[in-house]
Amino acid sequence: MPKDWYEWHDLYNTEPKLQQRLEIVREYIAYSLNASPDGAIRIVSVCAGDGRDLLGTLKNHPRAKDVSARLVEINSNLVERGRATIEFLGLAKQIEFINGDATLATNYVGAVPADIVIVCGVFGNLAQEAELNRLLDNLSFLSKPGAFVIWTRGHSNGITYSDNVRKILSASGFEEVNFKLTATGDMGVGLHRYRGENLAAPKEQQLFVFSGIPSKAR
Ligand SMILES: C[S@@+](CC[C@H](N)C(=O)[O-])C[C@H]1O[C@@H](n2cnc3c(N)ncnc32)[C@H](O)[C@@H]1O
Repeated sequence: MPKDWYEWHDLYNTEPKLQQRLEIVREYIAYSLNASPDGAIRIVSVCAGDGRDLLGTLKNHPRAKDVSARLVEINSNLVERGRATIEFLGLAKQIEFINGDATLATNYVGAVPADIVIVCGVFGNLAQEAELNRLLDNLSFLSKPGAFVIWTRGHSNGITYSDNVRKILSASGFEEVNFKLTATGDMGVGLHRYRGENLAAPKEQQLFVFSGIPSKAR
C-alpha cells in the first residue's frame, strides 16, 4: 500500500491498469493537440502528479511548441520530478509546475481559460456525487468554450463508477468525444468537450475538495 502520493506513482511501474490508463490519457492529449486550431494552446492539469501524462505526450508532439501549460500539484517531490522532466525536454519557458493546492481557484489565475483541462486521478478522490457536480460546475472558470476535458475514474467492488461520471457529464453540458475502458476492464478514461460559457471569475474560490488517500486511491 503506498504511504503517500509519491509512492503511489511507483504503481505505474507494476500495475497494468495504471499503465493502460496512462496510454489512453496520452492518446487523448495528443488527439486534443491535433484538433486544436493553429496558434497557442493553453493547458492546465489539476492534481498533476509528476506530469507524466502531459510531458510524455509533448516529448514527441509537433504542437509542443504551441503549448503553454500550468500543472498544479501539492506533493513537492512529485513537482520536483516534474520540473526536472520539463528542464530535460527544454520546455521550461512554456510549462509551469506549481507546488500548491489544486482545489483553489487562485492557483489557476493567469493560466486560464484553457483549451485542454486534464483532471486525471481526481474524480475517484471526491467524497460524493455532489462534489463532482461542484467541480464540473467550476470547470466553467478553467475552460474555454469547446475545451477538451480529459478524465479518469476507476471501478471497484464491481461498481462501474465511470458510467455515472459519463451521465453526470452529459447532464452538465459536456459532450462526449471518446470513452475507453482499460483492457483490465476496471478504469474508465474519458474525453469530453465543454459546451458552456467561460466564467472570468470563479463561482467560489474552493473549486472542490480532494478527500482521497493514497492507500485507497481509486
Ligand atoms: C491519483 S493521483 C493522480 C496524479 C496524476 N494526475 C496522474 O493521473 O498520474 C492524485 C494526485 O493528486 C494530488 N493532490 C491531492 N490533493 C491535492 C491538492 N489539494 N492540490 C494539488 N494536488 C493534490 C496528489 O498528491 C496526487 O499526486
